[in-house]
Amino acid sequence: MDALEAVLTRHSVAPAFLGEPAPDDAALERILAAGASAPDHGKLRPWRFIVIRGPARVRLGEVFADALVRRQPDAPAAALEQERARPLRAPLLVAVAARIDPQHPKIPEIEQILSTAAAAQNILIAAHAQGFGAKWLTGANAYDAHVKAALGLAPSDRLLGFIHLGTVAGSPPAVPRADPRAHTVEWQG
Ligand SMILES: Cc1cc2nc3c(=O)[nH]c(=O)nc-3n(C[C@H](O)[C@H](O)[C@H](O)COP(=O)(O)O)c2cc1C
Repeated sequence: MDALEAVLTRHSVAPAFLGEPAPDDAALERILAAGASAPDHGKLRPWRFIVIRGPARVRLGEVFADALVRRQPDAPAAALEQERARPLRAPLLVAVAARIDPQHPKIPEIEQILSTAAAAQNILIAAHAQGFGAKWLTGANAYDAHVKAALGLAPSDRLLGFIHLGTVAGSPPAVPRADPRAHTVEWQG
């Protein structure tokens, strides 16, 4: 698959359609190399890719449940169970975070975040190009200080989300693509 075909045919695959096997180490290395090929103003390398697989997903589920209790001390047991199960829906997750240099004299925070978002998109495309399904998910956990700390991130870092990866099982629906002409103007001055 060439690069343009990979970009144009990529669709997110919901975790319900992501099964084993996860990308193996060789495939994952290429996926992360694609992430680390994102445009990056000032060569700050702001991206942090946190790989979570196997039993670590169970531990992440505990972190999510703890985070919910901190946000909502009276959370019902079913909601806590839902948090525990959340990371188990795909065999491998990559949490994508931006390590922010808030005092950088030239590169504002927004550009560090944008570079990291580009890295996340590269990850999605590289997964698809190698035949895997993936979906970028956020939810409350991506914005939770307890979750960030448990992942080893600093308070100033930004957790952009959790990319769920696996082998596509079944027939996931594809979101229809936008007509680019509806989102484009040619400026004439
Ligand atoms: C920053 C970001 C966060 C997202 N978070 C969620 C989410 O929490 N839940 C969800 O269902 N989709 C979320 N999405 C959307 C999906 O990742 C996906 O883009 C969407 O379902 C459309 O599918 P497509 O990628 O095939 O166009 C998020 C997308 C982005 C860019």
